[in-house]
Amino acid sequence: MTATPARAYLGFGTNLGDRRENITKGLAMLCESGRTEIIKVSSLYETEPVGYTEQGLFLNAVALVETDLSPQDLLCLCKDVEVQLGRKPTARWGPRILDIDILMYFVESSDLSSDDSGDGAQIEMDTPALTLPHPRMWERGFVIIPLAEVNPSLLTPDGREIKSLIRDFSVWTGIHLFEAGSWWQGAGQSRDCRRIMRFVEVESTNSIAANMASGGASCGTCVIAETQTSGRGRQGRLWYSPPGGLWLSLVLRPRIQSQDVAWMSLIAGVAVASAIRDTFRLPAVVKWPNDVLVSGKKVCGILPETRFIGDKMDFAVVGIGVNVAIRTDLLPLQVRETCGTLVSPDHPHASEAREALTVSILDNFSLLYKQFLSEGFLEILQKVREYCDMLGREVTVLRLGTPIQGIAVDIDSDARLIIRTKSGENVHVVSGEVRIGVPGAGYCGE
Ligand code: BTN
Repeated sequence: MTATPARAYLGFGTNLGDRRENITKGLAMLCESGRTEIIKVSSLYETEPVGYTEQGLFLNAVALVETDLSPQDLLCLCKDVEVQLGRKPTARWGPRILDIDILMYFVESSDLSSDDSGDGAQIEMDTPALTLPHPRMWERGFVIIPLAEVNPSLLTPDGREIKSLIRDFSVWTGIHLFEAGSWWQGAGQSRDCRRIMRFVEVESTNSIAANMASGGASCGTCVIAETQTSGRGRQGRLWYSPPGGLWLSLVLRPRIQSQDVAWMSLIAGVAVASAIRDTFRLPAVVKWPNDVLVSGKKVCGILPETRFIGDKMDFAVVGIGVNVAIRTDLLPLQVRETCGTLVSPDHPHASEAREALTVSILDNFSLLYKQFLSEGFLEILQKVREYCDMLGREVTVLRLGTPIQGIAVDIDSDARLIIRTKSGENVHVVSGEVRIGVPGAGYCGE
């Protein structure tokens, strides 16, 4: 490959045979050609067919590649890979083993025509064989969503960053996250797949995830249900889990001490609060130890559960419940005033919004979790301080025995809340229910 290769974004689609394997093989064959290098691959998304709808669901992904091939030669390589994988000529929108489209192609440039995406100058062309950029790419959610994941700063034809498009929830219509993270184990990519297991109704996603973990499910396995019949909250309470919410549990296998599990909750809290800010533009904050609030109302609760073998952690399950689009008037009386919903259940794109939020939460969680494992708690603590608006405020912690009152001053290295009491003593609190100066978060249920 030349010293300054071109960069291209390729779109993959498949709905026949082993779809994951088709994309995996396609990527491998592009690498084996020796003329392209895979730089980044998006998560896998499962999408409903467009045009001819009497066919199976597609799996879609986008990859960024570097290549020394011209656009025309890259196209020939892609078509060659499709044919080698057994693709036969079919109807334009028909089923296919693998389709590889060149979406955009950039060359290095020092002039001002290059954009801020870090890719160089974009090549535009319109020939019978190839049009660049791909003429229909901006109409397709199954291109826009994975493309925004690979490079959120890419510019749309009207000069907006692509990541701004994915906040238009209609772009998510008919699209579900299938496998998150770097599922593809290619050259230089560490395997970090997060399988998504979806259910319509379960008792509790935490129970399903724990069962799967006992059976050997890998770190990152994610269980999502539309409703839970016995969703669990903290302190043995019931968590009201109607359709419209996001009820998910993550299997984790960190090599950490039992006291560090508290960090898993805070990581989840920051991941959720940040995802809510990005996706809905709402001022979400973390409420130590396990809640996320918007405008004083609890919109998310987090429930970490662990299993130890001897003194070694076998696995942790982090359960996250977000009231994305639920009917708060149907919440149990005791939490009706304290819990909120992110959008109305009548929002025309409530389920798409939930999907966008899921992707953002899993992305954020994965980044913070890896950072915690490799660098320790300091960076996370910094993030928690940024998102936790109760620091510096008067609080009361309810727990067994006498409540503790004082100013919440900070969080310590074991994720405990430090409260300065009136007498000037610093008390480090491991757990408890915190009341802030406003009606605080409550439990959903019971
Ligand atoms: C809390 O009491 O605030 C924690 C609530 C946690 C609820 C979530 S929903 C998904 C997961 N499955 C459960 O049964 N509980 C957690």
